[in-house]
Amino acid sequence: MAKQLQTLFLILSISYLFSSDLTAATAASPAGVSKKAVNFIQSSCKATTYPAVCLNSLSAYANAIQTSPKRLAETALAVTLSKAQSTKLFVSRLTRFKGLKKREVEAIHDCAEEMNDTIDRLNKSIQEMKLCGSAKNQDEFSFHMSNAQTWTSAALTDENTCSDGFSGRFMDGRIKNSVRARIVNVGQETSNALSLINAFAKKY
Ligand SMILES: *[C@@H]1O[C@H](CO)[C@@H](O)[C@H](O)[C@H]1NC(C)=O
Ligand SMILES: *[C@@H]1O[C@H](CO)[C@@H](O)[C@H](O)[C@H]1NC(C)=O
Repeated sequence: MAKQLQTLFLILSISYLFSSDLTAATAASPAGVSKKAVNFIQSSCKATTYPAVCLNSLSAYANAIQTSPKRLAETALAVTLSKAQSTKLFVSRLTRFKGLKKREVEAIHDCAEEMNDTIDRLNKSIQEMKLCGSAKNQDEFSFHMSNAQTWTSAALTDENTCSDGFSGRFMDGRIKNSVRARIVNVGQETSNALSLINAFAKKY
């Protein structure tokens, strides 16, 4: 019986793997999307720390990205910014819960502020990436690139601070888990965006 269950589990896992692969493939290559663009995103994502998160977030933009390392990095930043915005909204709404302890309210408030900073920094990084595009020489490019890298790492630090603030034992388990999952995801997207920015910098 145990063996049968094991086999069944194996079959289910394999079919799950295949179906998610298929979903990713169909999502990534609807009619008119070049296979070259999808392959480019796939191979670029492989070099990031969270390749599955990367591919899942960016494959839908294959048409816009094509095989441009710059557009890939910019799209990664834009997707991260949008996730940070929805996470901030989610965190801010938590303060409406009744019966929260003072320390919980404080952690939530601090986290909302850190998400504010994250959004601001990601936005600055996006502006710097644009300036990279209009740079007239290598020095100008390097200056704006360095700023983009700095703002993105700073955003990552804010996210880690927020997530640490929620890890204390005093936090309500459900709040802790729901917030941390979202913040961890924003952190992974940010880390991926940073490695895609670095990859673009090397190609310039
Ligand atoms: C976040 O920023 C907005 C404006 O950008 C401000 O109105 C809001 O009070 C800030 N929230 C926190 C928690 O700092
Ligand atoms: C990003 O920055 C630009 C220019 O500084 C500003 O107009 C825009 O409102 C900002 N967006 C966000 C989401 O903060």
